[in-house]
Amino acid sequence: MLIIGIAGGTGSGKTTVARSVIDRLGAGKVTFISQDNYYKDHPELSFEERGAINYDHPFAFDNDLMVKHLNDLKEGKAAYAPVYDFTLHARSVDQTVELKPNNIVIIEGLHVLSDEHLRALLDIKVFVDTDPDVRILRRVVRDIEERGRSIRSVHDQYLRTVKPMHEAFIEPSKKYADLIIPEGGHNEVGIQLLSILTEKYLSGDHQWDHRA
Ligand code: CTP
Repeated sequence: MLIIGIAGGTGSGKTTVARSVIDRLGAGKVTFISQDNYYKDHPELSFEERGAINYDHPFAFDNDLMVKHLNDLKEGKAAYAPVYDFTLHARSVDQTVELKPNNIVIIEGLHVLSDEHLRALLDIKVFVDTDPDVRILRRVVRDIEERGRSIRSVHDQYLRTVKPMHEAFIEPSKKYADLIIPEGGHNEVGIQLLSILTEKYLSGDHQWDHRA
């Protein structure tokens, strides 16, 4: 099994890069995991209290569960990822996503390169490097259209947690990347490189694989 980790700041285009690679390889060949599914749940807190949590710190995620699920997949066992509802800041308790063992697993998320335990499981480490002005513009649109946020809340959250955590944890994790893809989903060459490398693995050419 080949595990590809795709990190990058909020709105950088991590999901678009992952989806583009999956489209090229064929959906059935890849298991896709988003770190967003692994946000810790806080049912003991009110909606207002949950809204004030720092969701950009590495500790906001249940990375132990994510590591466990990756190890389950490596052992050929299916795993069941939680589902997260951003409009409620809460796990959807009755729902899970089935993750099937596969030749290729792609995980994307803010901290897939900053967490050392996750990082140790990755065969190819990718960082999507997109300018902060582009990222915040995308975030404003997404958070208002899809996550039920106001422009004021996006503004406050960005300055209070998103930007400082990006600078403290996400940007420094770029040094762990094997491949840095500027401008994410629009970088056709970067996406092709990653797809070709992955196809090489699927065809049985393991020469480049340090774990082979
Ligand atoms: N977040 C939030 N409210 C929550 C939980 C998370 O606003 N209850 C925000 C965090 O502030 C974090 C962001 O969700 O910055 C993480 O998602 P992001 O990386 O922006 O989304 P992806 O779609 O995974 O990334 P990309 O746009 O790069 O594809």
